[in-house]
Amino acid sequence: MVKDYSVPILNGSGDTDYARYMRTDELLSLQRKPEEIIHRDELLFQVVHQSSELWLKHACFEVEEATRQVQLGALDTAARLLGRASLGIELITGQLEMLRHLAPWDFQTLRTILGHGSGFESPGWHAVQRVSHALSRAFNKLIIQECVDLAELYRGSPDRPLYRLAEAMIDWDERVAIWRVRHYKIATRILGHEVIGTKGLPLEILNSRLSQKFFPELWRIRTVLSETGPMAHLCPLDEPSIPAENEEAGGAL
Ligand code: HEM
Repeated sequence: MVKDYSVPILNGSGDTDYARYMRTDELLSLQRKPEEIIHRDELLFQVVHQSSELWLKHACFEVEEATRQVQLGALDTAARLLGRASLGIELITGQLEMLRHLAPWDFQTLRTILGHGSGFESPGWHAVQRVSHALSRAFNKLIIQECVDLAELYRGSPDRPLYRLAEAMIDWDERVAIWRVRHYKIATRILGHEVIGTKGLPLEILNSRLSQKFFPELWRIRTVLSETGPMAHLCPLDEPSIPAENEEAGGAL
């Protein structure tokens, strides 16, 4: 007897097994319906946000497991999982580009229906903070337990599992920071500077958070290497004289 592959065999709703497993009917009904829409770019806006939340969910899932692997001493596994998580952040940074197609004036209409909703309330972003701090605690515990001198680690072989883990953590921290920068640029491109967001707070809060770091000790170690390396005479800079910018290059922000 010939097998009929067109007949779904999984449980769940949907006409096909693809629809049943991926739950496409529910997924594709999560955007506002044509009769609710006040501006056609709502779909673009929701797709970028919703897919960002999904990638953040996945990224945090990987960071959580990476933290568990650090606790178990499986440092290479942890580094590999962090690589996946960082790529997820890179993907959502890339998709912010779609928002360049959102005209500032159109967004003024669109934001009238957002209520007090704000990115500050993003569950994915909250999870990023939570899992990153948990990873930081696990890493610091390991460093203390193993009596590791981070400067010595960084003067040594990049092939050591602990070195690879530290660099995977730097990648994660850096990718999150790059997302912040790109998001800030997109937000000001659309809304301008010195404006108030839908949460009643100044947009410039985003600017003040650009240099936030989850693993400051891993960044600090770079400075220690500069201070103790062959060019140490350049550190610290006292009274730095900062060269003026070329006026033709453009004004201040
Ligand atoms: C039209 C595009 C966007 C604009 C104009 C915009 C604007 C803003 C503004 C003004 C804030 C400050 C808080 C507030 O007043 O609400 C904010 C925060 C935030 N937005 Fe967006 N945003 C945009 C797209 C996105 C996208 C696609 C995401 C992806 C999830 C996102 C996630 C966030 C997050 C996580 C924060 C909090 C950041 C932090 O705590 O440092 N935003 N956004």
